Amino acid sequence: MRVLSGIQPTGPFHWGNYFGAIRQYIELQEVATEAYYFIANLHALTTVRDAAKLQQYTLDGAIDLLALGLDPSRATLFVQSDVPEVSELCWLLMTGAPMGLLERCVSYKDKIAKGLKADAGLFTYPVLQAADILAYDADVVPVGEDQLQHIEVCRDIAQSFNHHFGQTFVMPKGKILDSSARVPGLDGEKMSKSYDNTLAVFADPKAQRKQIMRIVTDSRPMEDSKEPVGDVLYDLYALVATEDERDAMAALYRRGGFGYGEIKKALADAAERYFAPARERRAALAAEPQQLREILAAGAAKARVKAKATLKRAQQACGLSDW
Ligand code: TYM
Repeated sequence: MRVLSGIQPTGPFHWGNYFGAIRQYIELQEVATEAYYFIANLHALTTVRDAAKLQQYTLDGAIDLLALGLDPSRATLFVQSDVPEVSELCWLLMTGAPMGLLERCVSYKDKIAKGLKADAGLFTYPVLQAADILAYDADVVPVGEDQLQHIEVCRDIAQSFNHHFGQTFVMPKGKILDSSARVPGLDGEKMSKSYDNTLAVFADPKAQRKQIMRIVTDSRPMEDSKEPVGDVLYDLYALVATEDERDAMAALYRRGGFGYGEIKKALADAAERYFAPARERRAALAAEPQQLREILAAGAAKARVKAKATLKRAQQACGLSDW
């Protein structure tokens, strides 16, 4: 099984990124024959237009993944733009990507629906993502639910290329975790940087506690019982609590007679404890910038070998570069 996934460096990673995707990266690196994970800085260019910030977020993102358990001896970690073959492959795929398919993609459609102007980068974003996936012959792509549409688009594009030019690309499959495919944000909507409703994985614990204490709750009378699942505080707590703590909290909800303040405090405590070991590892990694650059350079070199071979195969299939 060959695993691949990417994550955009548009700011600090949040719980949605971790529980929806990164946690899967770490689990899958143990069982995959090859695992490729990258920081999608080319995709981030569609939203981050500040060179210093993009560079910082890119390096921070790589440190975060390592701190959260990505092991460079098991998985290839690299920066998307360090493998230019993918951008070249993207063009080949673009020539066969139907406009209608891209017009139906949510990130583009939402922007247009809001009356905002989109650029060609946002419109063709899913084609670059398809190139990312197909370049490494990935068969499993661990993601959160919001990315499943892009993986479907990737499959459609690959199928069409294979149909026209003969079997060239491996068909990938998306993989989500049922328990955290769509992590809610502080307002109950999907947690997302663009909704400004995130809990950062490596937030300062004190600041995060304040953020949690400010979560708006309903005006349920104290004595009423309440179904835990679907309540934002409970759903977030369930991610960072132990199984016993989670069961006890669910029982408390069903019994009633609790205040939300109590739950928020429990959530802040559990969050601080859950991410404490990664926070320590992160501090150690951040103190070794040279080591990080070496990991990324080695990752890019390895990723390029694979992407080059796939690009060559695709070029030959469609009549380019065979003389
Ligand atoms: P991005 O950077 O928005 O998100 C990275 C990963 O985090 C997941 N995620 C969530 N999962 C559950 N609940 C949430 N609230 C939540 N928010 C984010 C995303 O589903 C994703 O898995 N287009 C991609 C990056 C990309 C990519 C790729 C992914 C570029 N090339 C190739 C896979 C394969 C993106 O914007 O993810």
